[in-house]
Amino acid sequence: MDKIRVTGGRRLEGEVTISGAKNAALPILLSSLLTDGVNTYTNVPQLKDIETTLLLLDQLGATVSVEGERVSVNAGGLDKFEAPYDLVRKMRASVLVLGPLLARLKRARVSLPGGCAIGARPINIHLKGLAQMGAAVQLHHGYVEIEAERLKGADVYLDIPTVTGTENLMMAASLAEGDTTLRNAAREPEIVALADTLNQMGAEIRGAGTAVVEIRGVSELRPASVSVIPDRIECGTFMVAAALTGGRVTLVNCEPEHLGALTDKLIQAGVMIEIQGKSLTVAATGPITSTDVQTQPYPGFPTDMQAQFMVLMSIADGMSVITENIFENRFIHVSELKRMGADIQVSGNTAVVKGVSRLSAAPVMASDLRASASLILAGLVAEGATVVNRVYHLDRGYQQIEKKFASLGASIERIAE
Ligand code: EPZ
Repeated sequence: MDKIRVTGGRRLEGEVTISGAKNAALPILLSSLLTDGVNTYTNVPQLKDIETTLLLLDQLGATVSVEGERVSVNAGGLDKFEAPYDLVRKMRASVLVLGPLLARLKRARVSLPGGCAIGARPINIHLKGLAQMGAAVQLHHGYVEIEAERLKGADVYLDIPTVTGTENLMMAASLAEGDTTLRNAAREPEIVALADTLNQMGAEIRGAGTAVVEIRGVSELRPASVSVIPDRIECGTFMVAAALTGGRVTLVNCEPEHLGALTDKLIQAGVMIEIQGKSLTVAATGPITSTDVQTQPYPGFPTDMQAQFMVLMSIADGMSVITENIFENRFIHVSELKRMGADIQVSGNTAVVKGVSRLSAAPVMASDLRASASLILAGLVAEGATVVNRVYHLDRGYQQIEKKFASLGASIERIAE
């Protein structure tokens, strides 16, 4: 398993281009299952999770071709309806095949994703919505088996504004008979990106990005040609890195309006942020001020930025309170940061962070995607050389992260095992 060694003390300076968004690309790639014909996608990030998604599409009978960040998928040959355990356990977003397979093949058999490091990750809300649309849902041997002759539009209330739940139901409803309303829907930019893609395919979706999404079912959809939106979490990760190191970094090809909550918190913490169209410059010259954060569904502060922001707070002056409201176990990075000298006390879903003057390098273990990124960030400002183990977690969601940090002046290298 590869490791990454990062030596602290370098100020990050320069410019970095943000890649396409993993969490937009995954549902958009899987929406190709809703039609036959060649769908073409550009600005697709080159990540492990994308590889897994394309492997899944191939195994279902679709024809996939990849040239760098250009991907085409033709699901005309779709002839299987099962997402096997060995793929789903690697990437729980595989559950996003449920809606499309049901709509297209009238059946699906998907391994229950099971939990992951950050929580139980149930899909009960996905299944409740599909059942309301007339699907027969059964659970056997760790798989969900689901059938429907023709899905019917329904008025669905989501107990929680689940991101992939909203995406699954939006895709299923696109080919259902009649109208579907999703209430308390997730409002993330990735939802809007998927709705835009589906509408380009001939779907009739209104209200994506708000809490009420209305979908009028159509009889068939045509292929799409789409460019994936920039990754707001990769962008946010580099914003925090610039603030942490007291540097000045310009992020190119980002969507600043997708980062309002983080930008607001960074400004409160004393960081300078300039927005110029699709670029954003972050600079920190003075001390970092402790700032409280509560993670919330979009447009609130993103849970996927909680670990990274905690690193910034660990060297801020004063005490901050970080509350994780989305996942039940998303403080795994805390024990590793404490080994690097951070002063953090966790109680339930709240972490109290007392800023220290300096972190110290240590060998640390990555556990989940965003916690891994936070350990790299800590290494950028720790005294000495930090070695982050099990960086395959990172490769799932960040395209060549060490090369991008090195291009900004960081002392960082990958150690292939
Ligand atoms: C998406 O996961 C993202 N993944 C996650 O990013 C992100 O952290 C999360 O949304 C929240 O923003 C993708 O888009 C592929 P949820 P998702 O369903 O859809 C509970 C990353 O690092 N819930 O919005 O799985 C659930 O347990 C990943 O890129 C139910 O109880 O998240 C959680 O507590 C990590 N029942 C909360 O809702 C359900 O049926 C939010 O989960 C569904 C969800």
